[in-house]
Amino acid sequence: MMVLGIFGSPRKNGNTDILLEEMLRGAESEGAKVERIYLTDYTITPCKECHSCDQTGRCVIPDDMQKIYPKLLESDIILLASPIFFYGVTAWAKAMIDRTQALWAIKYLLKDPSFGKEGKKRKGFFISVGATKGQKVFEGAILTTKYFFDVLNADYVGELVFRGIDAKGDILKHPEALKQAFEAGRKLVVDWIHNPS
Ligand SMILES: Cc1cc2nc3c(=O)[nH]c(=O)nc-3n(C[C@H](O)[C@H](O)[C@H](O)COP(=O)(O)O)c2cc1C
Repeated sequence: MMVLGIFGSPRKNGNTDILLEEMLRGAESEGAKVERIYLTDYTITPCKECHSCDQTGRCVIPDDMQKIYPKLLESDIILLASPIFFYGVTAWAKAMIDRTQALWAIKYLLKDPSFGKEGKKRKGFFISVGATKGQKVFEGAILTTKYFFDVLNADYVGELVFRGIDAKGDILKHPEALKQAFEAGRKLVVDWIHNPS
């Protein structure tokens, strides 16, 4: 089974990177194969809304997203990490998510059975931090992430979100958060082993 960690922050070794790395370490401790995608290492053009994928299920833009589609499809568990930028996910994460419109077309327009009820099931988990303490600070990002996971037949199985985290590495002042992340990664894999679908 493969756990795909998607790092959506432009700040390398920042707060969400640290949390996602802890989750991946937890997953690895239970024997999972882990893959990492740092979105800032990829050139992902925003969706151009050309609708070519409506007929083919393929995106015509010849950029690095073409390397990400197979990894998404191969994954069993997807961990998406993004800090809150203007009440949503980062533009890096949103560009990748919008480009999964091609997979949305496969699922909902072309009705490919491999994306249907009998198709491969996945699990999805969201990690985020925000500088502020607003009640609704994660709402937009969670909705976006849920819809992204739905395209991939990934059950939204949980989230780890922390308010009041701003400067690079602030999350390290909260060892409990790191422990929670490690444990969440470990538990996801253990649950998968007992109940893969
Ligand atoms: C462009 C930008 C927009 C931001 N918008 C918000 C926001 O709407 N709400 C919030 O609580 N924090 C906001 N922040 C703060 C980040 O979420 C915060 O610094 C976070 O710790 C960054 O995580 P990282 O280290 O994983 O990149 C914003 C930061 C930037 C750079």
